[in-house]
Amino acid sequence: MNKVIVTGGLGYIGSHTVVALSEEGYQVVIIDDLSNSHEGIWDRLQSLCSTELTWERINLSERTQTLETIQRHHDAMGIIHFAASKAVGESVLHPLPYYRNNLCSLIYLLEAMGAHGISRMIFSSSCTVYGEPLTLPVTEESEIQSAQSPYGNTKQIGEEIIRDVVNGEELDLKAICLRYFNPVGAHPSGIIGELPLGTPANLLPYIMQTAAGDHEHLRVWGDDYPTPDGTAIRDYIHVMDLAEAHVKALSHLDDMSSRIDYFNLGTGAGTSVLEMLASAERAVKGKIPYQVYDRRLGDIMKIYADTAKANAVLGWKAKRGLDEMTETAWKWMQSLKESPI
Ligand code: UD1
Repeated sequence: MNKVIVTGGLGYIGSHTVVALSEEGYQVVIIDDLSNSHEGIWDRLQSLCSTELTWERINLSERTQTLETIQRHHDAMGIIHFAASKAVGESVLHPLPYYRNNLCSLIYLLEAMGAHGISRMIFSSSCTVYGEPLTLPVTEESEIQSAQSPYGNTKQIGEEIIRDVVNGEELDLKAICLRYFNPVGAHPSGIIGELPLGTPANLLPYIMQTAAGDHEHLRVWGDDYPTPDGTAIRDYIHVMDLAEAHVKALSHLDDMSSRIDYFNLGTGAGTSVLEMLASAERAVKGKIPYQVYDRRLGDIMKIYADTAKANAVLGWKAKRGLDEMTETAWKWMQSLKESPI
């Protein structure tokens, strides 16, 4: 049995993971209500995948719909749960929809898994759970800091809900929480990639739009951090490396002696805003204008992952470098300009 349910499968990381699953022979059932994704990705995914794909357009924070949908696909071997709202700033302004959307959907999914005997889950978590880390690189044992935003809190609470459920008696569950660092880049075909709704808050999509002429310049949020070039440092990871880690995690669940585990997914390398910009300039073969602004509220200075655990236990390692991230992001931007979705 190699059918897997992917919630949020038309979104950025979800769609790339659907391709990686299909390459490994999985049939995929996508659950996506298009709340932060685009219908056009469905046709594009079908052109990239050779195994059977199904799409259920339902809202997971509707309990009855969720139970019915999972019942229809009770023969799935597991669920990869991406579907969630993820705009940090918006979550501060409107916390309730964040808690409802991100937590109700998780609870209803777990209830449905219990009702229909699906026992494997991969949960999309975030390095945001570590806050501004006390020591670097961050390992999975690094201290969890209090969340900086309702969005971050939904990831922490989500991990806690799953931990409690695997330890309880209601369902026979094994789960892995994957803590993503900063996913960027796109599928090498240029057929799928990140589709930010409105002006992107994240660095690389904004850089690419600036290179394409949509913005006058990149706003660099602060160059007075105590880092080598003064700009903040993150661990950017190619979305296809991230996608492949999900396939490894799914097959690792059966080998796991514990019922729950946690993995950092990053490259282990820290990259500054100006280093990312320089790589983007190589990709677009031109200068990209920027101006320095004050630091962005709530930003941390520096974070990157210790990936030893994912390397050793999952047998997974990020293979793609920074220039491959910016080159694929640029290819995607150009293909979007040529044939908008
Ligand atoms: C942000 C979220 C994080 C989420 C992640 C998903 C915040 C505080 N954190 O992380 O919770 O999991 O996105 O990818 O929003 N930058 C600029 N100019 C820009 C955009 C960004 O200088 O126009 C800088 C930022 O100050 C930061 C770096 O680029 O130093 C990366 O920013 P971003 O892509 O937004 O990611 P994070 O802030 O790390």
